Amino acid sequence: MFETLPAKQPDAILKLMMAYREDPRTDKLDLGVGIYKDANGATPVMKAVKSAEGQLLEEQDTKAYVGPLGSPAFNQRMIETVFGSEADKSRIRSAQAPGGSGALRILADLITSARPDATIWVSDPTWPNHLPLLSAAGAKLATYPYYDADNSSVSFDAMIDALKAAKPGDIVLLHGCCHNPTGADLTHEQWDQVTQLLIDQSLMPFVDVAYQGFGDGLEEDAWAIRSMADKLPEMLIAASCSKNLGLYRERVGAALLVGRNAAEADTALANLSGLIRSNYSMPPDHGAHVVEMVLVDDSYNANWREELEAMRVRMISLRHAFSDALRRRTNSDRFDFIAHQKGMFSRLPLNAEQIEKLRADNGIYIVGDGRINVAGLPDEESDMDALAAAIAAVL
Ligand SMILES: Cc1ncc(COP(=O)(O)O)c(C=O)c1O
Repeated sequence: MFETLPAKQPDAILKLMMAYREDPRTDKLDLGVGIYKDANGATPVMKAVKSAEGQLLEEQDTKAYVGPLGSPAFNQRMIETVFGSEADKSRIRSAQAPGGSGALRILADLITSARPDATIWVSDPTWPNHLPLLSAAGAKLATYPYYDADNSSVSFDAMIDALKAAKPGDIVLLHGCCHNPTGADLTHEQWDQVTQLLIDQSLMPFVDVAYQGFGDGLEEDAWAIRSMADKLPEMLIAASCSKNLGLYRERVGAALLVGRNAAEADTALANLSGLIRSNYSMPPDHGAHVVEMVLVDDSYNANWREELEAMRVRMISLRHAFSDALRRRTNSDRFDFIAHQKGMFSRLPLNAEQIEKLRADNGIYIVGDGRINVAGLPDEESDMDALAAAIAAVL
């Protein structure tokens, strides 16, 4: 059977990770991989997570099945984290999922079973896994332009124009905050305009929120979701705990939905539960159990928020330091946008040849589309200057 399968290349980011690992240079710099890194280049377990894990190890007395939707307490806390503690929860439901990716997949399954003819509109560019993940669920896909590479900003008019071609019932995938790969987010006014367009054209938002807490703050980054939930009848949200709780390999996330009313939300959740059962049956428990403990316990919770805030503030200061260094080295303001963008990524206006030259000559690893991981930038001023000098040299 296997002889019928086509040869497969590893995807571009995995290839870059492998090349970085094999590079013997000691002063190499990895700006490619999409995980948070501290000033030592490490991705440590967050302190609150470590404490909760210790407690869990001590206290857990069963590994019995939890169920397709996961832990009710986890789901309740995720609803509060995403929608706020004051939100009307009567028409909001949540299913624990194996990461943001798992949440995206089961929600895509829900879309294709409820509306097989709907098209999911995805930003161009987007997180590279969106297209294969959604099409594996059988969804029809279309893209809307999102980023103006010449001006390093959102191409909002083009986005709106493209979405006007969507038909009633179509789904629009939006990044809730910290757009990956561009770091260019919509303003509140632009979110309002998108919301109005969705209302006018009977479209449904599907929001991917993988970086809540990395942009303007934990509550602030949920602004768009909360605003849309107030105004629109239905909505889907895929939330990831991989980044903001540093639980990448544990696979924790939530598939959230807003229904027109409590009864329809219950029906949608029961359908989601059936889809989960026929797929992976039940989500893994460990990471979600830890998240639940961190969100429930006041002391863990405060500790986690503090550490997350420190990560966010560090990324902002790296953004400023990098854009200042590039301003000095290139004698231009063309990289100023880096300071104002949000989250872990920005896209450098470099071509494939320049990116390859940075890798070959300087051991600087950047994804082929120019995406950099801001958390991978050096904290030392002299190292930041050397990076800016290397970039200026290839321009
Ligand atoms: C935009 C976006 N959505 C979803 C995910 C998936 O996250 P997870 O590791 O929780 O599946 C990522 C991870 O990089 C992402 O960047």
